[in-house]
Formats: sequence, structure tokens, C-alpha cells
Amino acid sequence: MKILVLNGPNLNMLGIREPDIYGKRTYRDLIDMIKAHCDEKGIEVTFKQSNHEGALVDFIQQAYFEKVDGIVINPGAYTHTSVALLDALKAVQIPTVEVHISEVDKREEFRQISYVSLVAAKTIMGMGFEGYIEAVDFLARFSAS
Ligand code: DQA
Repeated sequence: MKILVLNGPNLNMLGIREPDIYGKRTYRDLIDMIKAHCDEKGIEVTFKQSNHEGALVDFIQQAYFEKVDGIVINPGAYTHTSVALLDALKAVQIPTVEVHISEVDKREEFRQISYVSLVAAKTIMGMGFEGYIEAVDFLARFSAS
């Protein structure tokens, strides 16, 4: 099984950005944690991060041509604005889990809309880094069923 873990804007700043909300662990810590979990489960995983909407669209399209089986995406702020990411995920038809480190539904009004959730098989929020592990496990179960 091949999974793509895709992170959007400012997630490369984990550990530095708003540690009271996102914690003190870094983006590198996140990658290492997911990689260790996937190795244990025999899942092939690749990681991409970009601060640019179009680059994220390109990564989603690339996943189609590379026959990726599942996408874990934290679109960052593009969650709340991007029809382009929604359309890209609709186009590729790859099972997708949306992850948010923070509990977005308890935050500002402008964070209450998620375009990506319209296509995601599942949305996980407020579980910190553990949410990504949950997402990987969900996709593994999904592809086995
Ligand atoms: C986030 C929540 C978004 O509202 C925010 O813009 C982010 C991170 C999260 O992981 O909690 O960049 O997706």
C-alpha cells in the first residue's frame, strides 16, 4: 500500500508557530513519527509539504499517476478557502482523510468551513500529531476492505 501525506501552508513551521495550539514538536518530528508507524505496518509512505496552493494541486495529481492508494492531507489554511484542492481530490478519486492538529470546530468562525471535507472519507481533528496515525490506519483498513 502506498500513502501520500500532504501538508499545506505553515505546517513546516510546526514547533515554532503557535506552540500553545500546535505543540512544540517539529515538522521533522511529525514525519519521523508517521514514517516509523508506516514502516511497522509495511506501508510505503511519501511526504510532501508546500506553502503554495498550486503546488499542492500538482502533488495530488502526481499521486494519481504514481498510483497512490490513499492520501492524508492537512491543507492548513487552504482547508477553508480552496475549491482547487477540492476539485483536485475529486479528479483523482483517491481515498482521502483530512487531518487537523487543532480542534478547528472550536476555533474562529472562518475555520468552520472545509471544502476538502466535502470529498474526504473521514475528517480527524483535535488529536494533535496522533491524528495522522489514525488517518493512516483508517486508510489501511479502507484499502483492505
Ligand atoms: C490546521 C487548522 C487550520 O485552520 C490552520 O489554518 C492550519 C492548521 C490544523 O492542523 O489544525 O494551518 O489545519
